[in-house]
Amino acid sequence: MKSKSVHLLLGGLAAALLAAQLAYADPTLLEVRAVMHRDFHARGQAVMSRVDQDDVQYLCTITRDKPPAHRVKEMEAAQLAMIRYPADGNYIGDWKRGAKIASSGKGMTWKEKPGQNRGGGCYNCHQLSPKQESYGTIGPSLKHYAKVRPGIEGQKYVYGKIYDSKAFNLCTQMPRFGTSHSLTEQDIKDVTAYLLDPASPVNQ
Ligand code: HEC
Repeated sequence: MKSKSVHLLLGGLAAALLAAQLAYADPTLLEVRAVMHRDFHARGQAVMSRVDQDDVQYLCTITRDKPPAHRVKEMEAAQLAMIRYPADGNYIGDWKRGAKIASSGKGMTWKEKPGQNRGGGCYNCHQLSPKQESYGTIGPSLKHYAKVRPGIEGQKYVYGKIYDSKAFNLCTQMPRFGTSHSLTEQDIKDVTAYLLDPASPVNQ
């Protein structure tokens, strides 16, 4: 009798521990997706596909941003192939307009019409102009960036990086502004100019 109740007690404890473990275990991807689909509601241009990961995001999530090297190579190449470089071969636009886009965090919300208030939100993650006092530090400082990426190769890189950051660093936290249609070709040219034009405050 005695040993039976000890067994019962131990069995109960094990069940309680298991339940506690389950309660605190990381949710599975499917569970996360179910919650997102339950609580996110399509409105205006904010459609349901926004809560679903594409194959790159999915791979980065399940490998905690460390996919095997051959997959990185393969998927970065696929992202690179999606970049539409300007047909006129000119990567540089108007840095003054680029400055406005870089410092604006607007656009893409359900309240706005598609294409309205297109902002890059670059200051959320980067320092750019030394004159701007407030900026985030998730990304590196881009102050004096023309020195870092000189010449036409530098221009092509910056255009491509803004268009599809994941072509160059698969699991980066930086958004893909061209691939996601957040910024147009002209917008990306203007922001590229903001980063690289010698007259831009970024390079003063
Ligand atoms: C959510 C944060 C985030 C936002 C917003 C963001 N970036 Fe980034 N960016 C990063 C991170 C993190 C890196 C470093 C990792 C990498 O290279 O992908 C980076 C890297 C870069 C680089 C390469 C720097 C180098 O090492 O030479 C450039 C250029 C750049 N960002 C430009 C921009 C521009 C322009 C914008 C706005 C249109 C922008 N970023 C918006 C996070 C961000």
